[in-house]
Amino acid sequence: MTAKIIDGKAIAARVRQEIADEVAALKAKHGLVPGLATVLVGEDPASQFYVRSKGRACEKAGIYSTKPLLPENASQEEVEGLVRELNEDPSIDGILVQLPLPRHLDDEAILGVISLHKDVDGFHPINIGRLVMKGRDPLFVPCTPAGMMVLMDEAGAEIEGAEAVVVGRSNIVGIPVAGLLRNRNATVTICHSRTRDLPGTVRRADIVVAAIGRPQMIRGDWIKPGATVIDVGINRVDDPTAKRGYRLVGDVAFDEAVEVAGAITPVPGGVGPMTIAMLLNNTLTAFHYRLQRLGLE
Ligand code: GUN
Repeated sequence: MTAKIIDGKAIAARVRQEIADEVAALKAKHGLVPGLATVLVGEDPASQFYVRSKGRACEKAGIYSTKPLLPENASQEEVEGLVRELNEDPSIDGILVQLPLPRHLDDEAILGVISLHKDVDGFHPINIGRLVMKGRDPLFVPCTPAGMMVLMDEAGAEIEGAEAVVVGRSNIVGIPVAGLLRNRNATVTICHSRTRDLPGTVRRADIVVAAIGRPQMIRGDWIKPGATVIDVGINRVDDPTAKRGYRLVGDVAFDEAVEVAGAITPVPGGVGPMTIAMLLNNTLTAFHYRLQRLGLE
């Protein structure tokens, strides 16, 4: 049996079109559009690429965006001051501080300054706290984990009562996706570098989330037949036959796992495209909060 390939690119394109349609309708009705600010500190090339991609996606969806830039040596006060200005800016609904920040900055304090209603990344400590606490709802769900849940639903995975194994415990992916799966009544195990029997634990899983950042670490014979496999990894591996000299692979050995799994996300074209789609969706949600404050909804 070969697995169903979960086409994140197509699903993200559909979600983005739905958002663009709603933005256009709200603009026609109210004469207002959503606004997103992506704050970049320094010149990290990967972060520059992500911020540019987010700006382009906003433009295509009819969302206003601005990309405030601070130098690598910006002080804690300067970054927090910029975030406070954006909190007060009525044309900005969503504020995203691109991570990682330069090492001299306290990212937890900076994320804590973002207005709760503009926290489109969902990384404010109160939003994360609400996500992981029982019976509480965050104002925003972090984009990559939210996108992963959409992919599981699109694949028809049964989450209620499932054994879910999350490999990786990052604040951006592992911890929030484990909370989301638990909120949908999965039985969740979080694995990490000290997990004693990683292959044996993954073999129990009806749903596997791979978020470790190690190329092809999860092998096909770790996968329970029929399991749903969601691979967040994006790793460069040398490939002299490729034009750029490298290719991108996930944290799962795709060619092996595809023979065993029930459904699996490819890399690239799986989880990656969903992150930006969910960011646009969160920005639209933040815009609805503005319309509610203005008494228009
Ligand atoms: N760096 C890697 N992923 C993310 C993300 O989802 N949001 C932000 N702000 N920075 C990131």
